[in-house]
Amino acid sequence: MLIEMPRHTEIFGSVKIHEMQRILKIDSGGFANSRAKDIPFDEIKDVFRRFAIIVPVKDEKIHLLEGVLRAIPFDCSVIVVSNSRRDAPDTYKMEKDMVKNLHDLTQQEILIVHQKDPDLGFAFYEAGYDYILDKDTVVRDGKAEGMIIGMLLAKSLGKDFIGFADADNYIPGSVREYVMDYAAGFCMAESPYSMVRLHWRYKPKVVEDKLYFQKWGRVSETTNKYINLLISTRVGFETRVVITGNAGEHALTTKLADILSYSAGYSVEPYHFICLFDGFGLDAECITDADAANAGIEIFQIETLNPHIHEEKGDEHVNNMLLGSLQTIYYCKLCNDLVRSKVLEELGDLLEFDEPKENIIMPPIGEIDTHRFVKLLESTAETFTRCKQGITECEAEKEEYLEEESVRTL
Ligand code: GDP
Ligand code: CO
Repeated sequence: MLIEMPRHTEIFGSVKIHEMQRILKIDSGGFANSRAKDIPFDEIKDVFRRFAIIVPVKDEKIHLLEGVLRAIPFDCSVIVVSNSRRDAPDTYKMEKDMVKNLHDLTQQEILIVHQKDPDLGFAFYEAGYDYILDKDTVVRDGKAEGMIIGMLLAKSLGKDFIGFADADNYIPGSVREYVMDYAAGFCMAESPYSMVRLHWRYKPKVVEDKLYFQKWGRVSETTNKYINLLISTRVGFETRVVITGNAGEHALTTKLADILSYSAGYSVEPYHFICLFDGFGLDAECITDADAANAGIEIFQIETLNPHIHEEKGDEHVNNMLLGSLQTIYYCKLCNDLVRSKVLEELGDLLEFDEPKENIIMPPIGEIDTHRFVKLLESTAETFTRCKQGITECEAEKEEYLEEESVRTL
């Protein structure tokens, strides 16, 4: 791959935010120069082998989910976390059948679980991580909650990199590119604590019967503006470096995933920045992790070559995302009165009370014993299936049976 070098890096305490980088060639010819870095495909493939891609899904068209899963490079492990309906018609069953069939045909490693499985809730309870549970000891609804489930499964597979790909993508080829872009970011990273966030070159919309190649959506434009204002007012120099405040498509090293906190629902992506500012930003009160602070935390923002075409979910969804994002910024410890008053002004009618609500924040997952967590899931959770590489589902069950038998005969 040939990728532009970042022209500038904003240093904010221990957080290094690289300016946007464009993908110049997905398949390059080994010609590196001072403005562009060439990353050989072998290096990208090395990352794939250590990479899990999590696909959160809630009632999306099965064709879209299937396209996304088929596009993820073979060497990555795939983790589908579904919160789709289970009463008739059982969408989850359709998803699971499709996943099993895909595994039988391809032999790629795929895991799938349902977010509302009571035994999954119990496994979190057993692990002492009840921040993700509702009062009935079941995992709450929400994208961030699904992402946390996926991250624990990725950790149990021993993966070093964790990425996300939404299930509502209309262009499978773009998903393949996203995963390659993530890998390229990790190949460039100097710190083991790094994150890659994608920026769409275009997000096409149908306007008066024609495709219009729009660059910015309302939510991301607003979120970026206030994250940048927060940095600018702290540093004393204006910056526009952040362009990926709401990047649903992102990836991070497991080391970074272990020390971050996570904001519930759709506010999870902008909160990555806020959590890093609170814990590692300029003049942060207490440093969350000395090792990470010393190594520095690197954020890459890569502009994809492909446009992003996904399901449009309507105004209410957009407003909820905006509200969640701005609430998150409002409660950043480094936010001053000026930023707060501007955020309040922006929120305007979206605000129910005088003050924004505080989002639910779930603490780091680094301390959870993921092997124990997954063992419990394997033995109890009805919706959990792991289709291993090079082994079919029935063979896996048989292998388990034989293992149990041999223990019994010992
Ligand atoms: P947008 O693209 O950022 O506007 O948000 P989407 O509504 O497309 O959501 C992003 C992805 O998260 C999609 O694949 C959704 O199906 C999925 N998703 C949304 N809510 C949930 C949830 O509660 N749990 C899980 N596991 N996935 C969800
Ligand atoms: Co979407």
